[in-house]
Amino acid sequence: MEVIIISMKIKGTTRITGVFGYPVNHSLSPIFQNAAFDYLKLDYVYIPLEVKPENLKIAVESIKIFNWIGVNVTIPHKKEVIKYLDELDESSEILSVVNTIHNIDGKLKGYTTDGDGFIRSLKEDGKFNIKNKNVFIIGAGGSSYAICGALIKERVKSIFITNRTYENARKLKEHLKKKLNFKNIEIIEFEKRNDRKIWENIDLLINTTSVGMKENDPLLIEKINIEKVQFVYDIVYNRKTELLKSAEYLKISNLDGISMLVYQGAISFEIWTGKKAPVDIMKKAICEKIKK
Ligand code: ATR
Repeated sequence: MEVIIISMKIKGTTRITGVFGYPVNHSLSPIFQNAAFDYLKLDYVYIPLEVKPENLKIAVESIKIFNWIGVNVTIPHKKEVIKYLDELDESSEILSVVNTIHNIDGKLKGYTTDGDGFIRSLKEDGKFNIKNKNVFIIGAGGSSYAICGALIKERVKSIFITNRTYENARKLKEHLKKKLNFKNIEIIEFEKRNDRKIWENIDLLINTTSVGMKENDPLLIEKINIEKVQFVYDIVYNRKTELLKSAEYLKISNLDGISMLVYQGAISFEIWTGKKAPVDIMKKAICEKIKK
């Protein structure tokens, strides 16, 4: 499908949205959100908004003052922003993070769409059903919290977590136990992640770390173990990682982070516009940008 970017016309009626971040100049969201608005001929515009941490409060107030439809929120504001909002959806309440704000008649509601974006990408692009599956996750940072929360909501059977820093994996396990009452979690020490017996029953392998973003990054899981899983998901999106190259070589179904990036943005788009997001158009816009 071809993306046709119609030159944007800002009018008196144009609804404004964007992304608050610091830095924000690396964000791909303006590219695919504006492509989606253009494609559906919606009178919306999405702009990058550099917000320093000390200006976050006033920036959030400006959403109401200027009657913007809402914004995305990215690093470093995802947690800090919560105290300035009027309401949170269930996932952002549980995970204490927000990446999307919707201005509903002057009340600001926070959402987190990363986890649901991950699940939607797994279902729609990966055709993979997560219910009752055993999952092995590398990483215990923000993305891992969002993904674990969403997997549990989708009734995954068990989660194995490995992380470079054991303490962070322990905190994630405790969090999931306390907030979601999910007990089927095992921490695998980072040095033991390739023990053969762990891999006997793993269905899905997910990398949530930044390992793979750089060209000489190592393959954290040995091929003999990757070979045993049904599906490999790597949230890195800037290049084809060693993990994904291995999955492809072994003919194992796989997805990269572009899919998650698009679906988390698609859910934000749907929250703001009430319309189904044109995910193929959004994907194409990102791929064209990344290839350049
Ligand atoms: P995000 O919000 O994208 O998840 P994050 O919260 O900074 O980012 O988390 C990054 C994750 O990548 C963490 O699990 C981190 O491990 P630590 O808890 O030990 O910091 C992991 N990570 C980053 N660089 C890594 C590396 N070189 N090897 C292994 N894990 C790494």
